[in-house]
Amino acid sequence: MNDAVTSDRLLRHVHELDEDQLPAYVYDLEQLHEHAAAIRAALPERVQLFYAAKANSDSRLLEVLREHVDGFEVASGGELHHVQATAPGTPIAFGGPGKTAAELEQALQTGVDRLHIESEQELRLLTELLGERTVDVLLRVNLPIALGPVALAMGGRPSPFGLDPDHLDPCLSLIAADHRIRLHGIHVHLASGLDATAHLDVARQVLAWASNWATKRGVQLSEVNLGGGMGVDYTRPDTRFDWTAFGSGLRRLLQPYPHLTLRIEPGRSVTVYCGWYVTEVLDIKRSHGHAFAILRGGTHHLRTPATKQHNQPFAIHPVDTWNRPWQRPEARDELVTLVGQLCTPKDVLARNVPVARLRTGDRIAFSLAGAYAWNISHHDFLMHPAPHFHHLDHAPVSVPAGSHP
Ligand SMILES: Cc1ncc(COP(=O)(O)O)c(C=O)c1O
Repeated sequence: MNDAVTSDRLLRHVHELDEDQLPAYVYDLEQLHEHAAAIRAALPERVQLFYAAKANSDSRLLEVLREHVDGFEVASGGELHHVQATAPGTPIAFGGPGKTAAELEQALQTGVDRLHIESEQELRLLTELLGERTVDVLLRVNLPIALGPVALAMGGRPSPFGLDPDHLDPCLSLIAADHRIRLHGIHVHLASGLDATAHLDVARQVLAWASNWATKRGVQLSEVNLGGGMGVDYTRPDTRFDWTAFGSGLRRLLQPYPHLTLRIEPGRSVTVYCGWYVTEVLDIKRSHGHAFAILRGGTHHLRTPATKQHNQPFAIHPVDTWNRPWQRPEARDELVTLVGQLCTPKDVLARNVPVARLRTGDRIAFSLAGAYAWNISHHDFLMHPAPHFHHLDHAPVSVPAGSHP
């Protein structure tokens, strides 16, 4: 990963954008390509890498990622259709709660690689639809595992996701009586925001539980899916999930299970670093002694800081030109709150952040905007224009003919 190159490319692009091209999402495809390659290289061969498309399903991103992943994880009929159209032939795992009969039928007709079963009701619905067809499934389990402090817990406590361990037996009986359903193992996605050590600890507990459960129930366990949730630290944008430590830890954990394939399906930690939300300062004013910078755009484009209650990291790109006949509003050596154009006090992108100098007309590039950003935002609120989308190209390296090993 070469972040210096990334910033240079980005910086040039930010300056070249016309005012009417802002706000803009800028995706650095080269960064994504290098980052995904590094993740893949850090993982043992026996670990399959699926990308959770819900983090960002931008087609150009998926096209880059398909070179590096074993498949995509989708969580709706819409995502299934989109991913199949964008990356035809790439294996797909279909998860998520509340799958409708129409979505299950779509999965059966288009042929997904795995269906993650969330409940007995869903399994029964599936058996009703199957007819002569077969299907490969994992049972999603909500394991009682202590998670410690995490950004977003989705299991290990009461949750609408997956099956409690003692609800698995009725599903096993249904599967045992139905030759059309091939059970490969279990799926867990217990939390988001785990660092490598915490994730490995969860993995260790999941593997021990799964192998014990399979032995007791006579299940042939060939696959465990650990879900995603690899942490992204928005307060330290230069840090990364330690994929190298995670990969070697998984290699160690897998040693006692020679016949098991492990899958992971990260989303945020894969695409978050390649995306930037770039905009400009429309106004700077003071209210009750506090400085506010009002930006073009806002949380209807980049909802991440509002949902996660953090300050979105950003860089200021000074624009020296000022052609108006009045004094340019600015903030100097003070705390500033960066807000958007919405008529709600919740439209805050960064609160009370120290700035040396910020002027009306300067540009702001919010980093870590490549995941759960545009696609989770409430776009239509107030009917402001949508942002523009730019992709800084990834030129595939051409290898001279005959030089492949
Ligand atoms: C089942 C499942 N898998 C994978 C993910 C991706 O998680 P993350 O983006 O935190 O890696 C999610 C996120 O909610 C999920 O629900």
